[in-house]
Amino acid sequence: MNDIQILIIDYGSQYTLVIGRTLRELGVRNIILPPQKAKIWLENTTPKGVILSGSNWSVYSEEAPTLPTSLDITGKKYFILGICYGMQLLAYKLGGKIEQPHAYREYGPAEIELDKTHPLFADVPEKTEVWASHGDTVTKLPKDFSLIATSGDGIAAMSNKNNNVFGIQFHPEVIETKEGKKILQNFLTLAKCKKDWNPLNLIHQIQKEVLDNVSKNKKKVILGVSGGVDSTTLAAMLMPVLEERLVCVAIDTGGLRADELVELKENTKNAGIKNLEIISAKNDFIKNIAKTIDGEGKRAKFRGVYQKIFEKQIKKYKAGFMVQGTLATDIIESGKVGKSAMIKTHHNVGLSWEVDDLHPFRNLFKYEVRELARILNLPQAIYERHPFPGPGLYLRVVGTPVSKEKIELVREADKTVNDILKKYDIAKDVSQVIVALLGVNSVGVKGDERVYGHSLAVRAVQTSDFMTAKGYYFSQAVVDEVTNALTKHKGIVRVFFDMTPKPPATTEFE
Ligand code: XMP
Repeated sequence: MNDIQILIIDYGSQYTLVIGRTLRELGVRNIILPPQKAKIWLENTTPKGVILSGSNWSVYSEEAPTLPTSLDITGKKYFILGICYGMQLLAYKLGGKIEQPHAYREYGPAEIELDKTHPLFADVPEKTEVWASHGDTVTKLPKDFSLIATSGDGIAAMSNKNNNVFGIQFHPEVIETKEGKKILQNFLTLAKCKKDWNPLNLIHQIQKEVLDNVSKNKKKVILGVSGGVDSTTLAAMLMPVLEERLVCVAIDTGGLRADELVELKENTKNAGIKNLEIISAKNDFIKNIAKTIDGEGKRAKFRGVYQKIFEKQIKKYKAGFMVQGTLATDIIESGKVGKSAMIKTHHNVGLSWEVDDLHPFRNLFKYEVRELARILNLPQAIYERHPFPGPGLYLRVVGTPVSKEKIELVREADKTVNDILKKYDIAKDVSQVIVALLGVNSVGVKGDERVYGHSLAVRAVQTSDFMTAKGYYFSQAVVDEVTNALTKHKGIVRVFFDMTPKPPATTEFE
């Protein structure tokens, strides 16, 4: 599969994801990373272009996020485009001057006048409407940069003399900037990006890559399926090319949600998957994980049991290959990309098998896999399915030792919350819903009696790639209904709602 062509460094603008989506609409694969992760990524990879996003920060603020030290800002290695804060950061680092000329933020439409001869503005009219949102602005250009657009008497865009480092004060990614898409396309053209985001081609490439890998013998190929979008899509994609060589294995870990197995059977059947083996291993998992509190401890134990089960299946089928639907995000967050920090050990990343281990989705993000599922005509229930972590409900008993009873309680609570969200038609507005039992027991009163019981946390997030996420605010009616429904359980006294974004929090509690 082709390498990712454009890196977008996310300085926290609410439009960063829109930049990513617009580039995909223009046919170019890209990755969005926060500055610390971008630093590591750039130490190992050379993209064709780097885009620096906007932000609410001022470059003069002490805590303001800055340019990754591994970013080459000479323009020699790759083309660079700074948008809003990204432009200010470039100008500041290269010796320009940033000021706050107005006492207020400039927010909304503005007209700019641009240099039509500059390649970044090819085919853009000389006067055009753009959308801006900023407090600071560049008031003196860095050495060797020239002015290529103005807004009133202000600097709206700059370019270095080699035409490979640019800054624009407005946001080309929002539809209010009339020629924004064209400007981004011009940047991609200058950076010599090829159209590589074509879902159908990607499906063929992945099928070919797997076929090439497994063609050295005729042994069976084992694919771990969870019923989620990643593994189900991969199975649906490989079924037609591997046929009876493909064995899909699902595990009942005891940490599944209510009805999950029924949905798994239905989803895999609807995706055309044959040869599905379901292994019941509830007791093995709970025996191993019970009494553990630490999140990484639980993951380590989960991984251990998971690996043993698959080793047994490999022997049983005399298989030659293991295939998994691991995504780029899983690999990045488990610290398996260059020197990236380990956030969480993923249960299926970095395991060593006696047979070849393939991760055909290793360069893909969730939204891309959903797109592949749509192209494959998989049912909506699959491509819109919320993710659920491999270690499942074991990660939803937090700060208190895991037990069978607590898992049962959190399973019931998860179903209660999800039924209410379904009733309010909220599932489609959020990316994932988490219900966790917290290790905080507290006093309550039920039927005039003192009770000392559990606390639960309810959390919903909105995200497109799970690298960053926003907490979702439920309406008061939903908060009331969820609280009432959960506290009806005799062991539950308190319900907390968690809207913390990622970062600083992660999606899951551990
Ligand atoms: P975090 O909590 O890291 O989660 O923001 C990002 C996404 O990954 C899921 N997740 C996991 N999935 N094994 C998995 O298969 C894991 O150990 C694991 N930890 C987190 C999480 O549910 C979210 O969708």
